[in-house]
Amino acid sequence: MTLNSFAHLYEEATIVETRRSVLDILDNHVPKIHSDMSILDLACGSGTVTRIIYEQCAARNIKPPRVVGVDIGPNFIEAFNENKEARKWETAKGYVGDASDLHMCSDNEFDLIIMSYALFAVADAVAHKVTAEIYRVLKPGGVAAFTVWRDNFISRMLQETSAAVGRPEEEIRRFDPGKWSLEETSHKTLVAGGFKPDMVKTFRHDDTFGALDKSSLIDRFDSPFWKNVGTMAWTEEQKPRWRAEAEKSILKEQKERGALQGNCWIFTAEK
Ligand SMILES: C[S@@+](CC[C@H](N)C(=O)[O-])C[C@H]1O[C@@H](n2cnc3c(N)ncnc32)[C@H](O)[C@@H]1O
Repeated sequence: MTLNSFAHLYEEATIVETRRSVLDILDNHVPKIHSDMSILDLACGSGTVTRIIYEQCAARNIKPPRVVGVDIGPNFIEAFNENKEARKWETAKGYVGDASDLHMCSDNEFDLIIMSYALFAVADAVAHKVTAEIYRVLKPGGVAAFTVWRDNFISRMLQETSAAVGRPEEEIRRFDPGKWSLEETSHKTLVAGGFKPDMVKTFRHDDTFGALDKSSLIDRFDSPFWKNVGTMAWTEEQKPRWRAEAEKSILKEQKERGALQGNCWIFTAEK
């Protein structure tokens, strides 16, 4: 099972925190959106970034810009297209495609590119090709912005719960952002793609999960998405243990850190 299998569950499970980090980007780190822009929502999933752009335009009473969504997962683009229909994203178009080969996009096409929680999701071997493609399709003077996991409770919880029920080592490691939690990894990857080092900026987005009481918080994670995400489905014997293990992980985190950290890096890179 890949993340693509959970495409239709992804948005609801993640949008609260993703919205806050994307709003931080839009409000504080990139030029203000206007109707004549072209924007690329890269590794768009079901279109959370696109949704937030449309919400902002509605709130400001402006015509939405042109938005292109690209994701490698066909189920994600199916979900993107369902959102497009249901939410009337008339200026948006979704493509199934690999971020390391944006052949459907022209040189210098976009004013703004947002890649939310996905630079670390592409294979290491092609990460520099992804940033080279981003550089190619960005207009001179355009800005690309990225969120990358920094200190994230979800990553620790998924590793702890997986270890507790005896899932294979590769399944546990999969949830460890490893070198991607270091600032230098994204910075180097952006420079390897062609961005000048002094045009890459780093910011910290600090957030916490759960202004909820304990049982609502556990209910939130005791959901089909968080319970099953991974490359191998949990066995019937492992599944009933999720809630208790998630609860242990939440309590440990609250005791040790006082809150459930949902921190990320924000990188911007101007061409
Ligand atoms: C953690 S999700 C983030 C989705 C969305 N950007 C958001 O913030 O809600 C990572 C996404 O990256 C996509 N992805 C992974 N590798 C990719 C690649 N090489 N090209 C395009 N998309 C990719 C996955 O299919 C998935 O939708």
